[in-house]
Amino acid sequence: MPGTELFGAEERKEINDVMQTGILFRYGHDAQRNNHWKAKEFEAEVRKITNAKFAHAMSSGSTAIATALAASGIGAGDEVIVPPFTFIASVEAVLFVGAIPVFAEIDETLCLSALGIEKALTPKTKGVCLVHMCGGNADMDSIMAVIKKRNLILVEDAGQAFASSYKGTYTGLFGKAGSYSFDFFKIATAGEGGVLVTNDEETYKKADVYSDHGHSHIGEKRGMEAHPYLGFNYRISELHAAIGLAQTRRVPSIKQTNQKHKKLMQELLSKNPHISFAKLGDESGDSATFLNILLPDTASAQRAVDEMNAAGVAGFDYWFKNMYHFINQWQHLKDLSTVSKLPAQILERSQDYNKLDLPKTQEVIGRLISFGVKVSWTENSMRDLAAKISDCVNKAMKPVNA
Ligand SMILES: Cc1ncc(COP(=O)(O)O)c(C=O)c1O
Repeated sequence: MPGTELFGAEERKEINDVMQTGILFRYGHDAQRNNHWKAKEFEAEVRKITNAKFAHAMSSGSTAIATALAASGIGAGDEVIVPPFTFIASVEAVLFVGAIPVFAEIDETLCLSALGIEKALTPKTKGVCLVHMCGGNADMDSIMAVIKKRNLILVEDAGQAFASSYKGTYTGLFGKAGSYSFDFFKIATAGEGGVLVTNDEETYKKADVYSDHGHSHIGEKRGMEAHPYLGFNYRISELHAAIGLAQTRRVPSIKQTNQKHKKLMQELLSKNPHISFAKLGDESGDSATFLNILLPDTASAQRAVDEMNAAGVAGFDYWFKNMYHFINQWQHLKDLSTVSKLPAQILERSQDYNKLDLPKTQEVIGRLISFGVKVSWTENSMRDLAAKISDCVNKAMKPVNA
């Protein structure tokens, strides 16, 4: 959790600016706000890092991905290809804009693969919600080839991959729109928050309007503006934006430190022949928030997890068993258990979610153990952690009955 590791005077200063004026609302109140526009400055900081033409701060990564889908034109009845390994928000967002998720295979990048997308295409496929997982980036050249060939709408959920880039382009900016999360667990946090990015002005304008009940934000008097579209309240408050701003300023240095720490950990762990690492579309663009180790198979990974728990090794996720990140534990989704009816429940679906066959995904996620990289790690703590991980893996690799 690098962002929260560094919470300090800079964050407090930005919050105090807002507290001094009491203007917690991101729009208007020009005379009272003493020229403090934290949401706007937060957006500018995100644009500076990603080179996005447009950035729009919102209440969460979940509302940002839902808005990215809607503003990109994805809605009722559209089939959208999604990964079975993601935070469930990506799939919920597709469902809640009225569209129908279709699951496709990921690969060792931990993201959808071009092959997986191609195999999941149907005549009704309208778009792909690509998720850049664990701080990394997907194999964009091959994915973009499919997107272009099939004329699909690409929306990127880069909720976990702010500041990650592929061959110079930042995640979130390959398709129509993308989103980042600034919740408590990300490279930078706003407490709660999200940012939508796009290079397309039309998409940006739709997102701006949609995320604030249709307000056009043109004119002086709130309540008297035009409302070109219906929308909802996905606004960020100035307090959250203030924290997001201070944290985002830290990201270039966090990323540099993360990369250094991840490199050393990989060097140390690669001495163990049983350990390999997840791939990245572009290793040099990694935001390096996660150290993703792969073991030879699911059984050995599960034994390694048990060994690490017994040895008191902390700070890792075994996503294969996680309730919110992996499809095996999403029975509510497979059964479409909802509090009220969604379009996906009354429209024809091309996939039975209870009969999905995703062997590559099962294999990769079964083998994956992810450690959160910390900026506060020292060389000694990293050497100690790597030795413990390696030791647990060695124990896990011994024949079970030996
Ligand atoms: C890939 C992904 N998408 C979306 C989200 C949702 O973000 P938030 O918690 O800000 O709503 C997350 C949060 O963990 C995420 O990891």
